[in-house]
Amino acid sequence: MLSYAPISTVKKCLGFAFLNLVDDSNCEIKTMRNNFINYFIYNFSPWNAKNSRGIVFSGGSEANEASLYLSRTKTKNIVVASNLSHTSIANGCQKLKLKLISLDVNPRTFLVDEAQILKTILKYRSKISLIIITAGTTQLGSKEDIGYSKKLIALCQKYKIRIHVDGAYGAIVMRLINNYSKWLDEKSISSVTIDPHKFLGIMGCGLLLFRGKSISQNCPEAIYYQGKNTFWGTTRSSLAVAVGLEIIKNNKNYFQKQALTCLKKAKGIESTLGKQGINLINPVNSGIVPIKAKNQRHAKLLINLIGNKGFKLSPIAIKGKDYGIYGLRITVTPRPIFLNLSKKIIAGLCQAITQSFQSIKPRNP
Ligand SMILES: Cc1ncc(COP(=O)(O)O)c(C=O)c1O
Repeated sequence: MLSYAPISTVKKCLGFAFLNLVDDSNCEIKTMRNNFINYFIYNFSPWNAKNSRGIVFSGGSEANEASLYLSRTKTKNIVVASNLSHTSIANGCQKLKLKLISLDVNPRTFLVDEAQILKTILKYRSKISLIIITAGTTQLGSKEDIGYSKKLIALCQKYKIRIHVDGAYGAIVMRLINNYSKWLDEKSISSVTIDPHKFLGIMGCGLLLFRGKSISQNCPEAIYYQGKNTFWGTTRSSLAVAVGLEIIKNNKNYFQKQALTCLKKAKGIESTLGKQGINLINPVNSGIVPIKAKNQRHAKLLINLIGNKGFKLSPIAIKGKDYGIYGLRITVTPRPIFLNLSKKIIAGLCQAITQSFQSIKPRNP
């Protein structure tokens, strides 16, 4: 999901890409990272900058893995998430030898039933280190996978379970359009992943933001250069952060404009496809248009046919114990292909999808 940064801005900041072995005392980079982190805490987190911290990573997956790493303890090695959580959660748990309990979302609401999650918490209570809430799900673009619940928050507080909100996609785009997840405003959550590179236009920049200082104190010191941030490496994302700061400085309401444009285009696609009798798995709530297929084979065929017409779409596969939901998704990003060429390209895309649906003959029973 690449987006777009003006080439002149990238050129202007290119020097930062060559600042090798930047130690934690390099004031320019340190100040830049702090300003960047504070901007996102202020605009996109539930906390104020004074009591919160952040670490810059090369993407949302790394930030998620770091949240798993930082919250585990000797006695707490269970993580609870839903089957709509991003693959980085399962990958991170595997690498860190954490036990992942993946709860199926209800296939009608696309939310984990509240009773089910409360039951799971009560069953494993003090062994759970972290619950992952996805605010802005990757596959469906739905606002969350675990509904906001005061009862859940109370249980987490009682058993000292941290709540991590994976807002890699949703924390920026969905916060700026109405109907976003209430978890993004919940001050008691411990950490949140935000992925600026999805919207800033330069790859290599995801953030892990956390409440208070306590979590960052779990970072061991690096031996070669001192500093909490150097444990994760010293030269991370300097170019992306520099470009990001330039873009933010020079474009008022940058994210808001992008979020609204993405939503508008995605709604346009939803309406065009609807008129052709093509159904979505759930209504558009962000830049993601989740198109329904009959089964996995049907989804694969459609992706191939649409790919042959020049449009590359990603598959959707939501697997539960008792169900499988399949489809394909369009993700409208701030790329020029969507923002500038818009109408013609989008009409072509909708036509390619419609023709592909029509060209697949129903199989004989
Ligand atoms: C909810 C969510 N979490 C994590 C990620 C991973 O982010 P990245 O591709 O920057 O590693 C994504 C990517 O789409 C995502 O949607």
